Amino acid sequence: MQADVQFRRIATQRLSIRRSRPGDAATISAYRSDPKVHRYQGWDSTDAASITAEIEEMAARSPGDPGGWVQFTVEERDGGPLVGDVGMSPADGEPGVIKIGYTISPAFQGRGYATEAVRALIAYAFRTLGADVVRAYASAENAPSIRVAEKVGMHLVERFEGVDGGVRWFGVRYEIERAEWDSQ
Ligand SMILES: CC(C)(COP(=O)(O)OP(=O)(O)OC[C@H]1O[C@@H](n2cnc3c(N)ncnc32)[C@H](O)[C@@H]1OP(=O)(O)O)[C@@H](O)C(=O)NCCC(=O)NCCS
Repeated sequence: MQADVQFRRIATQRLSIRRSRPGDAATISAYRSDPKVHRYQGWDSTDAASITAEIEEMAARSPGDPGGWVQFTVEERDGGPLVGDVGMSPADGEPGVIKIGYTISPAFQGRGYATEAVRALIAYAFRTLGADVVRAYASAENAPSIRVAEKVGMHLVERFEGVDGGVRWFGVRYEIERAEWDSQ
């Protein structure tokens, strides 16, 4: 797997996916602070200052660099509004495995945007970064997230139990391998 130091943006039919910038933080903070959005997410803080700090920290990395997440902002094409964000990170100690995450603002959900953005992100991980496996984790109760994973061709490989702040929860791991992606 290789890092992509020249990343500019990924364009899909309706969306444009670019590196997140500090100026995006207020909009991202607004939807991440919605309990419906962060219910199943592991974010420590959703205030704009924390998100700005995260974006600044991630700016030092290129997509595919080991050591952490890179976040992308998803916008409607041709100067449209910011509709969500997606992210990717190589899995620690598992060469060739890329983890992804995705969030769409409630105002823009239900239009197929997550599916479109995730499909493009997976294609980018396989074709440009040379990943072997793309993986997504979700709460077992997070039906929309699981549906997105299934729609892009990922399949369930593990169910697991976690404990967060003393609360037991059940998670699922979805994956797709490069050969499966190529044969779709
Ligand atoms: C998961 C999420 C990104 C989906 O965004 P989206 O743009 O609405 O997704 P899409 O429109 O591409 O697809 C959503 C699918 O879930 C389905 N869905 C939505 N709510 C559902 C529910 N309660 N039960 C079952 N399926 C549901 C939709 O019908 C659609 O499937 P379909 O095309 O077969 O009808 C969005 O709900 C979100 O940001 N949630 C909060 C953050 C999160 O949990 N992220 C995932 C963790 S990695």
